[in-house]
Amino acid sequence: MFLFTTVADYRTQRRDWQGKTLALVPTMGALHQGHQALIREARALADVVVVSIFVNPLQFGPQEDLAAYPRPKDQDLAICEQLGVDAVFYPSPLEMYPDGPDHVTRVVPPASMTEGFCGAFRPGHFEGVATVVLKLFSITQPDFAVFGEKDAQQLAIIQKMVHDLNLPVRIVPHPTLRNERGLALSSRNQYLKTPQEQEAALCLSQILSGVQQALTEATAPLPAEKILERLQAAVLAPWQAGPVSVRVQYLAAVDPVTFQPVSQLQPGVRVLIAAYVNQVRLIDNCLLT
Ligand code: PAF
Repeated sequence: MFLFTTVADYRTQRRDWQGKTLALVPTMGALHQGHQALIREARALADVVVVSIFVNPLQFGPQEDLAAYPRPKDQDLAICEQLGVDAVFYPSPLEMYPDGPDHVTRVVPPASMTEGFCGAFRPGHFEGVATVVLKLFSITQPDFAVFGEKDAQQLAIIQKMVHDLNLPVRIVPHPTLRNERGLALSSRNQYLKTPQEQEAALCLSQILSGVQQALTEATAPLPAEKILERLQAAVLAPWQAGPVSVRVQYLAAVDPVTFQPVSQLQPGVRVLIAAYVNQVRLIDNCLLT
């Protein structure tokens, strides 16, 4: 497996892969089972698999601790090696932003897609994501790029960028991986320390399954606001007086492409949820069928 830390070294090797298909899995490292599923998908898609590992300063807000973000380099490289990755692109911040992150040309996705949901609580985050992803595409020149559906807003914004800027890359969404009880896999789950917190975290997927079930049982589209409010209240009721606080930050039904809220629940609509379980912020979503 190659390990490249500079754009120049990567590009030299990229020439040798001319004529082969290449799949990129962009990550910020700390690779968990969810990432590993993306890498396996990439392995099945293309001749060459490249994983990028870069903790992107541009997508962290001033209140978010960039320095504290985990960087288990040896462990990540061992995982990539084991999964048959051909190359890891592991640049430094200076390599990615030689003039400094404050002096870089940025990609500005449409406000209509970034102002709501996660974007409302993380100003500038999706601009930082879109900018680094465009740079990673430009550097690695993939035919495919695999992204998890768990970060549904990020995925929609990247798909929009690829469409609007005519980028020659096919975005491959990968379904969210869940544990046996339905909890979406995430590096944040490690912060759920007590069994009660782990139990409370299931509220997110329980609300989503409740929405799906309501729709499956319905004979016509359902009023989104009313059903989401009712399910949220029902699922959270046992936690109101409990030892763990569960606070929903947003629960919404959106068009999966434009990310604009929709008023009716029907197949093809994406339902999004973000909630705090004590201090741990979790997100989840599902596409209604
Ligand atoms: O989802 C992530 O890990 C990051 O947002 C990404 C896409 C690698 C960009 O830094």
